[in-house]
Amino acid sequence: MQQSIGMNIGVTVVKGRRSIRKFRDTPIPKDVIEDALECARQAPTARNAQPWLIGVVKDRALLAQIADLTDNGKFIAQAQACFAVFCQKEQKYYLEDGCAATMQIILGLWAHGVGSCWVAGDKKPYAPTIQSILGVPQTYTLVALVPAGYPADLIPVEKKKVRDITFTDRFSSS
Ligand SMILES: Cc1cc2nc3c(=O)[nH]c(=O)nc-3n(C[C@H](O)[C@H](O)[C@H](O)COP(=O)(O)O)c2cc1C
Repeated sequence: MQQSIGMNIGVTVVKGRRSIRKFRDTPIPKDVIEDALECARQAPTARNAQPWLIGVVKDRALLAQIADLTDNGKFIAQAQACFAVFCQKEQKYYLEDGCAATMQIILGLWAHGVGSCWVAGDKKPYAPTIQSILGVPQTYTLVALVPAGYPADLIPVEKKKVRDITFTDRFSSS
């Protein structure tokens, strides 16, 4: 008989994460923001390039300006902070590296009870404008925005079943 692997705090955090787009007014403690940045720094990067530059935007006027520029990120205006993940664009794996760091931030925040949502940066026409508003040098490119705050709302989403998205050894469609 197979033994149950039981509950585990790490996977409970990972599996419980949802995108949060409505935030309470409570500020995020400085230590929590710093811990999320520590999580980002521990992300894997191709050839350990660590090509990141991560902005933490807290200024309300800047948050409103960024929100306004996005198509699906208007809720950034109500966030307590918005992480802006940039990577050096000459790095071959800049996108993978930036995405890995983005996910570490999101999960690090969630582990502290802080909600957030990945808002697209890379490929979006607003990315260069946001970059110049934040004064980030042209050698970088925006990968993602992560507005964050304590959750005011949690929307459950349908997820595919593991068996429908996986295979063992060789794929067979039957
Ligand atoms: C690359 C990427 C870009 C995304 N861009 C946006 C966005 O611009 N606005 C938004 O509200 N959510 C965005 N999301 C969040 C997804 O909508 C969300 O992850 C998805 O609906 C599943 O919900 P969940 O995160 O709660 O599991 C993005 C997610 C990813 C991975």
